[in-house]
Amino acid sequence: MKFFLDTANLEQIKEAVSWGVIEGVTTNPTLISKENMEFEELIKKICEIVPGPVSVEVISQEWKGMVEEAKKFAELAENVVIKIPMTVDGLKATRELSRKNIKVNMTLIFSPSQALLAAKAGASFISPFIGRLDDISTPGMNLIEDIITIFNNYMFDTEIIVASIRHPLHVVEAALLGAHIATMPFQVLEKLVNHPLTNIGLERFLKDWEKVKK
Ligand code: E4P
Repeated sequence: MKFFLDTANLEQIKEAVSWGVIEGVTTNPTLISKENMEFEELIKKICEIVPGPVSVEVISQEWKGMVEEAKKFAELAENVVIKIPMTVDGLKATRELSRKNIKVNMTLIFSPSQALLAAKAGASFISPFIGRLDDISTPGMNLIEDIITIFNNYMFDTEIIVASIRHPLHVVEAALLGAHIATMPFQVLEKLVNHPLTNIGLERFLKDWEKVKK
């Protein structure tokens, strides 16, 4: 399972990449708006730090505009992936971009039928938002299970990015289901590391080491 970081914060990205467990980054307009930096400069910097795909979202609502934006983003760095919203125009843009070998991550996926359409249109990645489904009392992880079944039935190459992750259990459950990628905020990544018994165990070892004759 690959881990992506769901942030546009350079410090968090640098730190997480240095742990050796991050293979990509996902951004969105909300995450970009939190950083006090010129947009293209920020994307270039992220792409220099991150070893794998960096998703950058288009703002146009109409497919030709999406394609034009995508072409500009794709020139910023080789590892840019274009985030396209799940709409009819988004499908048209995805088909056009996949024909041009520009990778697309279809975002704002909330149903198995949307995931199926994205894969058929040629998306390299899809981003089902599980936390936002949980927020409205709909189990987000069920959606992941359904999409995995559908993609396996037809051997689609499209990779599933489990998105809108809110806590470590989301990551563990996604891994148990066999999802390709989990994209998570830095705070969730930190929580994956921590276990109170690890801290207690380490403290005890260090204390006992003081008793060792040296
Ligand atoms: C995914 O690509 C999105 O950027 C993100 O996971 C959305 O998460 P949120 O629901 O916490 O905003």
